[in-house]
Amino acid sequence: MTNDSKPHIIAHRGESFNAPENTLAAINLAWERGAEAVEIDIQFSKDRELVVIHDTDTKRLAGIDKKVVDQTLEELKKLDVGVWKDIQFKDEKIPTLKEVLDTIKNGKRLIIEMKSGPETISILKPTLQETQLLPEQIEIIGFDLDAVALAKEEFPDNKVLWLLDINDKWYTQLFSQSILKAIKKAKYYQLDGLNVFAGKVKGKKMIEQIHEAGLLVYCWTVNDIDQAKDLMDWGVDAITTDGAAWLSHHLFS
Ligand code: G3P
Ligand code: CA
Repeated sequence: MTNDSKPHIIAHRGESFNAPENTLAAINLAWERGAEAVEIDIQFSKDRELVVIHDTDTKRLAGIDKKVVDQTLEELKKLDVGVWKDIQFKDEKIPTLKEVLDTIKNGKRLIIEMKSGPETISILKPTLQETQLLPEQIEIIGFDLDAVALAKEEFPDNKVLWLLDINDKWYTQLFSQSILKAIKKAKYYQLDGLNVFAGKVKGKKMIEQIHEAGLLVYCWTVNDIDQAKDLMDWGVDAITTDGAAWLSHHLFS
């Protein structure tokens, strides 16, 4: 691990084991249970508001088969994205990024995953500038390399990590070569680290390769204690999980 002796635990989409993902209910539950960091997904509404939702459409969470980007904020705010999880969350709404930023207290961090491309930055930048949050309280991640490269350019003081999902296709089977290429690109754009799919981390070697390049290693999404223990032993800097309080208890108590 680069800084601390134990990995940071990131609450994936909030405390999403027990509350509907990416809602204020899940995010506030994570803070209440002592989470140090929460991860959320952001994308655009039709009227260019940054809203917090993972899927590109609202079918799974609200039963409405329509793209997020084709609905205005007013329309999105009418949807119930809580009841699918449990009746106690009935009428839970899709939050805006601004609403989530307002929940962050001193010493807490938000990991913002951009689900859209580099155009996200033109709205993300003024939104973050309106807050009093410190650069170390906001980290930016994304699969789109152009988007994370631009994020690093515009937010040089914030940590920016590239999300990797190295797949099983034959041409990515040359695993070490793929990770070395990713490291090279991350260094070229002066990114702070790589955020890798935990299922593809089979040993310490890959973690060491990334660390040797001076990059942080985060892993997603880890809901298995043995897997988390392995990753911790191998020295990852952060583990993203749907059960942050549960995993922290099993790893550190
Ligand atoms: O934290 C990274 C992870 O959230 C990426 O995958 O599909 O859950 O957004 P996804
Ligand atoms: Ca995410």
